[in-house]
Amino acid sequence: MRTTINQVKAMKQKGEMIAMLTAYDYMTAKIVDAAGVPLILVGDSLGMVILGYESTIPVTIDDMIHHTKAVVRGSKNAMVIGDLPFMSYHINAEQALTNSARFIQEGGAQAVKLEGGVNVADKVKRIVDCGIPVMGHIGLTPQSINQLGGHRIQGKDIETAKKLLADAKALKEAGAFAVVLETVPASLAKLISKNISIPTIGIGAGAGCDGQVQVVSDILGLFTDFVPKHTKQYARIAESMSKAVSEYYEEVKSGLFPTEAQSFTMDESIIDELKK
Ligand code: KIV
Repeated sequence: MRTTINQVKAMKQKGEMIAMLTAYDYMTAKIVDAAGVPLILVGDSLGMVILGYESTIPVTIDDMIHHTKAVVRGSKNAMVIGDLPFMSYHINAEQALTNSARFIQEGGAQAVKLEGGVNVADKVKRIVDCGIPVMGHIGLTPQSINQLGGHRIQGKDIETAKKLLADAKALKEAGAFAVVLETVPASLAKLISKNISIPTIGIGAGAGCDGQVQVVSDILGLFTDFVPKHTKQYARIAESMSKAVSEYYEEVKSGLFPTEAQSFTMDESIIDELKK
């Protein structure tokens, strides 16, 4: 049985910290799920870390569904949350509903995530009313990077801090089961977390949130184009991969690979027959 939204909400009530990690493929999802992480986000960050784009903006709904299917196949216990990409929910509630349904029906996800607060509350309500759990995402919302003017900390002055609090409340009122707070000062994230009844999941929002989310390739030291300040590298997988690939390349060139251990045998009399 996968993690349910009621379990996630209960974790906040009990003061249990909620861990979420991204995954974009079968083998990573298997590892994250086996570790017991209750929430897996198929984030549109896959645009940068998997597809090599400069931002999340070029990511399409088809890209997202493709990766969601793989993550669902690789996991058994975690709730899989599909991230609605840029412009897949902004046009109207019908579009938001149709694309959310694709994540659930085609992708096999249990919930969707979308960016925005007051401005998307009507869509959140429509999606939730149709029985699809929604996670909100406010603060630094990467799909609006051009409007925000870069990867800046959000909510540092009274106006923007008030707006973030209003956004969080609007998402709760619209029926969201949790909300991601990205790149928000720790004290503001703590205040928002205390002022809404649904869990807040922080990324670069300090320890006062009800849970934390990170991009899996960041914490594994696998994606090294840039290392965000909010990340802690628990491994240096890119370095290990690089070393292994160089070693393989050298061994192929020098004839050290393959050995008998990686080869197959047959009745040598057949070879002798062939040589006649
Ligand atoms: O796309 C993503 O990975 C995200 C997380 C950073 C929350 O939205």
